[in-house]
Amino acid sequence: MRLDKYICESTPMTRSQAKKVISQGRIKSGDKVVRSSAYKTKEDEVISFDDNIISVRGLRYIMLNKPQDFICSNVDEQLPSLFNLIDVEKKDQLFIAGRLDADTTGLALITDDGKWSHKVTSPRNKCKKRYRVGLDAVISDEAIAQLKEGVQLNNEPQPCLPAEVEVISETEIVLTISEGKYHQVKRMFAAVGNLVVELHREQIGGIELDASLELGEWRYLTTAEVKSIA
Ligand code: URA
Repeated sequence: MRLDKYICESTPMTRSQAKKVISQGRIKSGDKVVRSSAYKTKEDEVISFDDNIISVRGLRYIMLNKPQDFICSNVDEQLPSLFNLIDVEKKDQLFIAGRLDADTTGLALITDDGKWSHKVTSPRNKCKKRYRVGLDAVISDEAIAQLKEGVQLNNEPQPCLPAEVEVISETEIVLTISEGKYHQVKRMFAAVGNLVVELHREQIGGIELDASLELGEWRYLTTAEVKSIA
């Protein structure tokens, strides 16, 4: 990787700032000053800036406990973007792997790894998402049976894949689905004659929302969590 790019990737510097510090002789490879921005860094090379070692930032994987009234968008619209809650550099390189509605709370995964994000969201991968659902009306046995079988949503060519349904109370359900259609959970319950009044995502694949995160808090994923999305 070119030296100026390496510096941009591993520090908050812009390309022109990186070029400037290189020309000022503040960048070293091992103990040798490098003054060329085009210098090609090698895999195992130790690069330092003002004698502090810098390393290329790895890919980032974040879980956020999304509160209501934040939107899954990189920019503020009528409501603020959930990126307002995350205090990291170069947020414009991050995106959300599987959006939630503004009024939905819970697990949001944020990354700059496009391939990993695709594994989370691609319908082909059938990555499971578990939601805790609060309902307006008592759930009927017939509705549960329909959800388990695969409900037909409005304006969709095919019925949903069968869902896993755990009944917590007459109006509280834990629902696990392996698709991510637009407003899917709300539409599934509408299709069986009910109304979702609270929706909280608890799990995506092997990644469970960390119970120690309050609404609005975030943390980086562990390596095991990242690898659990296969
Ligand atoms: N299904 C919905 O209807 N809304 C969400 O936010 C997530 C899944």
